[in-house]
Amino acid sequence: MKPTISDAAPDFGTLDVPLLVVALPSSPSLGADLAAVDAATNGALGRSIARRDFRGGRDETLHLAGGERGIQRVLLVGMGTASDRPTALRRAGAIAARQATRLGVGRLAFYAGALNASEVEAAGVGLGIGAWDFKEMKTAPPAEEQRAPLDDVVILAADAEARTAGTRAATALGEGMALARRLGMLPGNVCTPDYLADTARDIAKRLGMQTTVMGRAAMQEAKMGSFLAVAQGTTQEPRLIMLEYQKGEKGAKPIVLVGKGLCFDSGGISIKPAQGMEWMKFDMCGAAGVLGAMEAIGRLELPINVVGLIGSTTNMPSGEAMKPGDVVQASNGKYIEIINTDAEGRLVLADVLAFAKRMSPAAVIDAATLTGACVIALGHNATGVMGNNDALVQEVLDAAKRAGEPGWPLPLWDEYKDLIKSDVADIKNSGGRPAGTITAALFLKEFADDYPWVHLDIAGTAYTESDLGTVPRGPTGVPVGTFVEFVRERAR
Ligand code: BES
Ligand code: MN
Ligand code: ZN
Repeated sequence: MKPTISDAAPDFGTLDVPLLVVALPSSPSLGADLAAVDAATNGALGRSIARRDFRGGRDETLHLAGGERGIQRVLLVGMGTASDRPTALRRAGAIAARQATRLGVGRLAFYAGALNASEVEAAGVGLGIGAWDFKEMKTAPPAEEQRAPLDDVVILAADAEARTAGTRAATALGEGMALARRLGMLPGNVCTPDYLADTARDIAKRLGMQTTVMGRAAMQEAKMGSFLAVAQGTTQEPRLIMLEYQKGEKGAKPIVLVGKGLCFDSGGISIKPAQGMEWMKFDMCGAAGVLGAMEAIGRLELPINVVGLIGSTTNMPSGEAMKPGDVVQASNGKYIEIINTDAEGRLVLADVLAFAKRMSPAAVIDAATLTGACVIALGHNATGVMGNNDALVQEVLDAAKRAGEPGWPLPLWDEYKDLIKSDVADIKNSGGRPAGTITAALFLKEFADDYPWVHLDIAGTAYTESDLGTVPRGPTGVPVGTFVEFVRERAR
């Protein structure tokens, strides 16, 4: 569920709500602003703070009973000592919404003192992240066992302008992230390349964009031998999806967002081990991120030109599949030796990045669950960020940080290129295990050399195999926030 986000002035005397969330910093004190809330809990709020039952540590929660009417329950959520308030608020919002969903209160109000617009937005985004779930493939339990989904959240803040701007942005981002997460969660037999294309068409129709969808024949016409090599193992139609949003000046160079859309990655002939292979339905999270970002950008009506590009297929073994040793030619003319059919994402992206040149882009950012090596290097806390333009890399890192989806740079030094030199072709698609994230990005760079470009390796951040507290096992919404934040800053 994604909740409706609204806003109101904090007026605790008249507030009528099943759950009031109060987000507090480390070692909080009971401010005068909370006197009415303290009264609603018969003084339990003040006592819990005075007794230090609740200390405001990050993710700490304490549930207090309120009255029959008015403020009926209070949930204290700690924000810890984080210096970055939006990040702390996003996290507190997510923790609170998940707890509210467990309780089944249906509606909550969120209060964290004075908030500016980005803080309201961060709280709202967090609440949306925490309220999200995926129930559509489970039979509903009997009515008496059901808990109400959280479908209404109200953010309380005194500054009316901040409230309106913040909730509007949070709603747009919430819709985008929920869309990306749903696509990620959908299994490979449902979320196919055609499904992604239909989703793009639906976004285009609702939000006034144009779509162009290419299939195998059109890709053959365009000589996309690299992308087609991956697609030759499946009978499903591969799709190159283009979604154009044009609310900028006519003819102004667009920002191009590119996503890896492998609806399943078995590894192909270089097949992956069975253990955990089901997680490779998430190999389309880059594509989901592009669609989620386009959804949010369209809702925000940002005055800028943006193109979403998705390369989508599945990587399967078959009698027709590409095999190690094969040499293919990408649409920019470069010959590629396929060493490992499991390094398929870069083969798909090679032709998509070459295709992006036709848009004369101001900047291209691709997002891909590209390498297991990135998970080894940065774990699940940072997206790997690399590119051919240092200023753009920094701009993307800054946007990612503001979005609460931190990235970290890795060097794209020429020295690493030795690892992907081929004996028979211009380049090979795998340099083995050393610097696996860097060699993958260096491979992409060969196809993105005509424009400023940044690559996001989201293998460790787009989905989680363990509950993060804020997010359950499954998709996180990354990189929707990063994409939108980058585009929004460019549109200012
Ligand atoms: N989709 C995978 C990368 C991946 C692995 C994402 C684990 C998320 C979690 C990608 O297509 C892949 O298989 N990469 C190989 C590259 C290697 C063969 C050079 C990898 O990382 O092992
Ligand atoms: Mn692979
Ligand atoms: Zn893959």
